[in-house]
Amino acid sequence: MIVVAISGASGPIMGVRLIEELLNSGEKVAAIVSQPARQIIEYEILREKISFSSLKELLLKRGLAGNYDLLREFKNNDFFAPVASGSTRFEAMVVIPCSMKTLSAIVHGYADSLITRTCDVALKEKRRCIIVPRETPLSVIHTENIHKAALAGIEIVPPVPGFYTRPESVDDVVNFVVGKVLNLLGREHDLFESWGKKKI
Ligand SMILES: Cc1cc2nc3c(=O)[nH]c(=O)nc-3n(C[C@H](O)[C@H](O)[C@H](O)COP(=O)(O)O)c2cc1C
Repeated sequence: MIVVAISGASGPIMGVRLIEELLNSGEKVAAIVSQPARQIIEYEILREKISFSSLKELLLKRGLAGNYDLLREFKNNDFFAPVASGSTRFEAMVVIPCSMKTLSAIVHGYADSLITRTCDVALKEKRRCIIVPRETPLSVIHTENIHKAALAGIEIVPPVPGFYTRPESVDDVVNFVVGKVLNLLGREHDLFESWGKKKI
C-alpha cells in the first residue's frame, strides 16, 4: 500500500494523476487531502463549477476505468486512521504536491495532521517518504527545510519538467513529474519516454 497525500500547494492534479496511475496498476492507495488542498482542487481542477466532496467522486468524474475499490480515503484530522500508526505496514508515503507549510511541519516533526503524522511514521519506521515540494521562488527558509528533508532521508522530486521530452501540454508536464515519482517507487509506467530509451 502506498499513502498519497495532497497538501495545499498549487498542482493537486499531480497527486490525482499519481493516484490514478497506482490504482490502474492494481496498487492499494490510502489517500489524504488537506483542507487547503480541497479548495485548490476546486479552484484549479473543478474550476469552481462543482465542489469537491471526495477523491472517489473526482476520479469517477475524470473517467477512471477501474480499481477504485483499492482506494481508501482518510480525513487529514483522523489520527485513528490505520496509517497514523507504524503497525500499518504501508510501503511508502508520497506528499504530492507538498506545500511549504507541510514541508516545514514534516522536517520539524510537527505531526499535527494525518499527513504530517504519517510522514513522521514513515521516517521513524525507515520507510520511503517522497515529497514534491511546490513553491516558486524559494526563500532561504524553504531551501533550508528542503535540505533538512534530504538529510532526514526524504526523497525530493521538485515539480520541474525536463524539456528534453518536448512537452506539448500541461498534461505532459504533470505526467513527467508523476513518472519521476513512479521511477523512485520502482513502478513501470509509460508516462514519458526516458532519455536512455530514446534512439538517437
Ligand atoms: C490557489 C492557492 C495556491 C497555493 N499554492 C501554494 C504553493 O504552491 N505552495 C505553497 O507552499 N503554498 C501554497 N498555497 C498556500 C497554502 O495552501 C497554505 O500555506 C496552507 O496553509 C497549506 O496547508 P496544508 O499544507 O496543510 O495543506 C496556495 C494557496 C492557494 C489558495
